[in-house]
Amino acid sequence: MIRSVVRGFGAALPKRVLSNRELESMVETSDEWIVQRTGIRQRYIAGEGETTASLGADAARAALANAGLSAEDVDLIICATSTPDNTFPATAVNIQNRLGITHGFAFDVQAVCSGFVYAVATADLYIRGGMAKRVLVIGAETFSRILDWTDRTTCVLFGDGAGAIVLEAQEGQGGLADRGILTSQLRSDGSHKEKLYVDGGPSTTGTVGHLRMEGREVFKHAVGMITDVIEQSFEATGISAADVDWLVPHQANKRIIDGSAKKLGIPPEKVVVTVDQHGNTSAASIPLALATAAADGRIKRGDLVLLEAMGGGFTWGAVLLRW
Ligand code: ACO
Repeated sequence: MIRSVVRGFGAALPKRVLSNRELESMVETSDEWIVQRTGIRQRYIAGEGETTASLGADAARAALANAGLSAEDVDLIICATSTPDNTFPATAVNIQNRLGITHGFAFDVQAVCSGFVYAVATADLYIRGGMAKRVLVIGAETFSRILDWTDRTTCVLFGDGAGAIVLEAQEGQGGLADRGILTSQLRSDGSHKEKLYVDGGPSTTGTVGHLRMEGREVFKHAVGMITDVIEQSFEATGISAADVDWLVPHQANKRIIDGSAKKLGIPPEKVVVTVDQHGNTSAASIPLALATAAADGRIKRGDLVLLEAMGGGFTWGAVLLRW
């Protein structure tokens, strides 16, 4: 059977680092509060000329180089983002143009912080359905541009960046020893809209709007939703938490990550954490964390890797794959 195998990975971050200390001069907050409540120590902020598409294209180039491929070898580009360069065309098409190709097709996926998990699951279906052989799956965001920088309850949490992987169709045996995606589990429930949303849009206000969040409410639902889809992934495959080599969670908050890992019985040394360095970069956070842990040699070929995310909508999901 056809499996969607990770052939390469890459990441891109803006030049500018914004520390918690610097934030202290912008809103009434403290490094201590931010670290204690979230685990975040710094985040990257896009400057002039740095956009979701430029960061996404840089991450895509890095992933192609890591895979030993060129843009010519790719037939589909999926970009997960909630902060597109323009309302349309899709950021993925913008990235396709920046990569200098006109063949194949490209589109965006919008599932906020779960966007990368949704995009990977979508790419896997295109590959297994025979519509694509190599897919660039990108998570790219510039959340700094939709933050209300006077609202200390949200502006300290988010950052900008992009990550990408190349998924390739490869022949597998159909068993759990195969490399590639073994299962994807996706969920959403729109009744939670008011807890995490942007208060603008083309069809309502005609403006871009700002991110609004009831942090405590989001927190309350996060661990349960995340662990539910992970347990569904275990049920679908017969894999158990003890078999997992690496949990690569969405990087929203260290306490959510720790709480989820503890509930699942996954020890901290198997959890990839980058939220301290990147803040919450929404759809970019998982591919950024994947690229970090693969580049430093933690994630190795053959490792069982569990991705999970939960975000605005609410949307949530998990992907279990062998690297
Ligand atoms: N600096 C200092 N004090 C602050 C700040 C700040 N930046 N922000 C809020 N406070 C204050 C509040 O005003 C409140 O003060 P009060 O007690 O006098 O009213 C106090 O700190 C506690 O506020 P809470 O909201 O109860 O703090 P909590 O412990 O819940 O932490 C946080 C807030 C970090 C947002 C937490 O609820 C959280 O992480 N929620 C999950 C949300 C999340 O991660 N969303 C990301 C997007 S969704 C996703 O990706 C999963």
